[in-house]
Amino acid sequence: MNIIIVGTQFGDEGKGKFIDLLAKKADYIARYQGGANAGHTVVIGKNEFIFHLIPSGILHKRKKCVIGNGLVVDPETLLEEIKNLRKRGIDVKGRLFISENAHVVMPYHKLLDRVKELRRKGKKIGTTGRGIGPCYTDKVARTGIRVADLIDERAFKEKLRKNLDEKNRLLKKIYHQKGFSYKRVLAEYSSYGRKIKKYVTNTSLLINQAIDKGKSILFEGAQGTFLDIDWGTYPYVTSSHPVVGGALTGLGVGPTKIDRVIGVAKAYTTRVGGGPLPTELPKRLGERVREKGREYGATTGRPRRCGWIDLVLLRSAIQINGLDSLILTKLDVLDELKEIKICTHYKYRGKRMDYFPNSLKVLSQCKPQYEVLKGWRESISEIKTYKKLPVNAKKYVERIKKVLGIKIALISVGPQRDQTIILDKSLYGPLAHQVEHRPFKAGVTGSSPVRPTINAAIV
Ligand code: IMP
Repeated sequence: MNIIIVGTQFGDEGKGKFIDLLAKKADYIARYQGGANAGHTVVIGKNEFIFHLIPSGILHKRKKCVIGNGLVVDPETLLEEIKNLRKRGIDVKGRLFISENAHVVMPYHKLLDRVKELRRKGKKIGTTGRGIGPCYTDKVARTGIRVADLIDERAFKEKLRKNLDEKNRLLKKIYHQKGFSYKRVLAEYSSYGRKIKKYVTNTSLLINQAIDKGKSILFEGAQGTFLDIDWGTYPYVTSSHPVVGGALTGLGVGPTKIDRVIGVAKAYTTRVGGGPLPTELPKRLGERVREKGREYGATTGRPRRCGWIDLVLLRSAIQINGLDSLILTKLDVLDELKEIKICTHYKYRGKRMDYFPNSLKVLSQCKPQYEVLKGWRESISEIKTYKKLPVNAKKYVERIKKVLGIKIALISVGPQRDQTIILDKSLYGPLAHQVEHRPFKAGVTGSSPVRPTINAAIV
């Protein structure tokens, strides 16, 4: 079965946990867009893994992982991730494949990301500083450096020269920065190229041939529908396509090969960075939910803003992505609340609005309309079956299902693999949560959020 997993909100929906879970039934796990701005967290016992580039499926022995052409790859972060995995007993050799068409995040992309943000003053996007926007800008401008160029010494020399000439001028004249040394960047990045060469291949061919042989592919999206460059709250978006279309172009696979498209939605809404969050909670309540849900960015450590579940967002996400079902995550975070609100629609100039507006101006005048449900006020994190959930928790889930008219496939009640309620058994069989790489080597029990660094030499 070939399944695409997409985020339905503003990212951080808990996709990492489910990619790891569903990877059990897949042969290949393939990421299709974004870059090291993503932070996919998987918790196994006392071990916590945060993945920025490598698909979370890598924790399963024998599974193959693909970094697709739709990504922008920071080779420094990638090699760091490979090294950290190796330290913990996980070898990626023969299991990691990187598209030759993916673009390379260069040091000037990371610097430009930061200085451009600084210039935005009051209207900051709140980017992760990982060079994502500037790298995609070069891709679309047809001037970018692809992975295939990075591993080809001659091509790299030539492309780097052209790019650096232009970028150094921009950095110096417009942003009053020092710029980068050609020699030092060439040396550093050529060395990265030599190290990643063994993973580089035509990943579209690899995946399509695997599909022809009856293998199962799990397509892993990063970020969420409303951070999509076209469908998000532009300009407060990322520069790629987290929506379903991104999975097809970002891996070179046709829609007829896809069996299911499943959306991941948090039982409430969060957002990190700038931009509108219509159902944002008042300060105190927001902080309570943030603490309970550990709502801090896995990539930057920034606190996430929290809001009630917004069915207008989800209705649009279901439509844009053609979702067949939803995975509802972090339901346990709402355990202690006396009342829980569901935003069923917006009111705009006195009229009902069911779908998310494209215009931020219109959105700013929309008033979320809520239904208020009673909380369940008990811990659900040890509950394994839907039947055993408290009545009010079931009412909450049923209401969401009914208003949206969609099936709920899985419900997460905690970060661990076995804190999952399975409603759709075709997705994930009996709960045999074996860790195939056991034991993980002792030592680091979590990769802490990494602040963006610019390592290449600045002259
Ligand atoms: P960029 O992707 O670093 O350019 O950031 C653009 C916007 O997307 C910012 O608001 C970020 O906070 C947000 N963003 C990027 N990646 C993620 C993610 O993985 N989760 C949540 N928000 C993200």
